[in-house]
Amino acid sequence: MAKLWSPAAFRVLLTICCVPQIMPHSHVSAEEYYIRQPPRSVIQTPNKRSESDPQQVHISLAAKDYIRVSWITDDKEAESVVEYGKLPGRYNTVATGEHTSYQFFFYKSGKIHHVKIGPLEPATTYYYRCGGRGPEFSFKMPPANFPIEFAIVGDLGQTEWTNSTLDHVGSKDYDVFLLPGDLSYADFQQPLWDSFGRLVEPYASSRPWMVTEGNHEIESIPIILPHAFKAYNARWLMPYEESGSSSNLYYSFDIAGAHIIMLGSYTDFDEDSAQYKWLKADLAKINRKKTPWIFVLLHAPWYNTNTAHQGEGESMRNSMEELLYNARVDVVFAGHVHAYERFTRIYDNKADPCGPIYITIGDGGNREGLALEFKEPKSPLSMFQESSFGHARLKILDETRAHWSWYRNNDSDAVIADEVRLESLSTSKQCWGITDGQESSSSSSSSSVTKDEL
Ligand SMILES: [Fe+2]
Repeated sequence: MAKLWSPAAFRVLLTICCVPQIMPHSHVSAEEYYIRQPPRSVIQTPNKRSESDPQQVHISLAAKDYIRVSWITDDKEAESVVEYGKLPGRYNTVATGEHTSYQFFFYKSGKIHHVKIGPLEPATTYYYRCGGRGPEFSFKMPPANFPIEFAIVGDLGQTEWTNSTLDHVGSKDYDVFLLPGDLSYADFQQPLWDSFGRLVEPYASSRPWMVTEGNHEIESIPIILPHAFKAYNARWLMPYEESGSSSNLYYSFDIAGAHIIMLGSYTDFDEDSAQYKWLKADLAKINRKKTPWIFVLLHAPWYNTNTAHQGEGESMRNSMEELLYNARVDVVFAGHVHAYERFTRIYDNKADPCGPIYITIGDGGNREGLALEFKEPKSPLSMFQESSFGHARLKILDETRAHWSWYRNNDSDAVIADEVRLESLSTSKQCWGITDGQESSSSSSSSSVTKDEL
C-alpha cells in the first residue's frame, strides 16, 4: 500500500490525468520569430528559520480596508498575532486571529495562522511581524481610487521559470497580484506546498495575493481521499465570508473601483448550485458608478483555441456565460492552458461588443511546460496567441480606460509582446440599451479593444 501511494505513484497518476498535451511542433503566431522555451526544473525552497519563526507569509485583501496575514509555524504553541504600524520596528497595533492545520495521509501541516488587520489607510506602507518574533515584513495597501495596477499570472508552479516570472513581476511596482488557479503543483506531495509558500513569500508578503483554485489544487481521489482542496483551503484562505459566499472556492471583492469575481471551475456551477446563486446575487449588487470595472477570474477557459484542454470550460460557460454577459463584465481571465491567448469581446461563440474580452494567462512557469499548438485555421475571435512563459499587467487608469500588457519571459528579460487599451463597458450606451440617436447599433468589438500605439 505504501508503495502504491508513494510520491512517484502520485506523479504517474497526475501525469496520466492532468498533464496537458505538449505537441512536438511549435506554432509561431507572434509577429516575430521566437524559440519556444522548454520547461525548467522544480525548485525546492528550504526553511532557513527556526520552527517558531513565521514562514510562508502571505497577505490577501479581506473586507474593505482590511488585510489578512497568513503564515505557518512548525511550532504548535506559536501565537496567531500580528503586530503592525507605519514605521519599521514600531508596532503600535496588535491583532489576534485564528489558526488551523490539516493532515494528509502521513503528512501533518504546521500551524496555519490567519489574522485580519485593520482598518488600514489606502496607498500606505505598513510594517509587520507575525507571532511576536522572526523577521519584519512590509506591504503597501492598494489605493482607494484609480489608477491601480494588477499583476496577473496563472499556473505559477515552482520552477526556475516561476522564479524568472516572479522576478519580472517584482521588478516594477504594482498593487495587487491575481492568480487564476494552479498555484504550487504540489500534486499530493504536501511538502511542496510548504516549499511554494517559501518561494513566493518575498512577493506575497508585500502585496495582496488574490487567488482562485485550479485542478492542481483539488488533490482528491474518489473513496480513498474524498475531501478535495484540503491544503488549498487551509493555506490560501480568501475573503469568501466577507463577500457572502459559503465557500473558499468562489468569492468577490472590491478594490479601487474594480469589482473582481473569483469563480471555481472545479465546484458545482449549474443553475441549482450554490455558486450560481451566489454569482447571480453578487452581480445584482454591483453599482457600476462605484465599481465601473468588473473582472472575472476562473481556471478552465471558456474560450480557447489551443489544442490543449479543449472543451474543459464548456459546461461552466453554458451555465454562467449569460449571467456575465448581462452584467456587462469587462474581462474574463483564465489559466489552465499553458500559453497566452487574447480574444475579442465574445458572447455565445460570436464577436459581440457587449461581451467580455477573454484572456488565457496560464503561462506562469509550471513544471509541465508549454501548450505549444493552436488550432488551425486561426479563429477570427482570437486576437493574439503565443506559447511562452510570462506574466501580465492590467493598469486601470480611470473609470473608462485601462491598459493591458503581456510580458513574455525572454530568458532573464521581460519583453512586452502584446498590449491593448481597454474601455470599460460601464459607460457603453449601446450595451445598456441607451439610445441618443447617434449611437450606432452595429459598432464592432474593435471599438472597445484598440491596439495601443504607445
Ligand atoms: Fe490547470
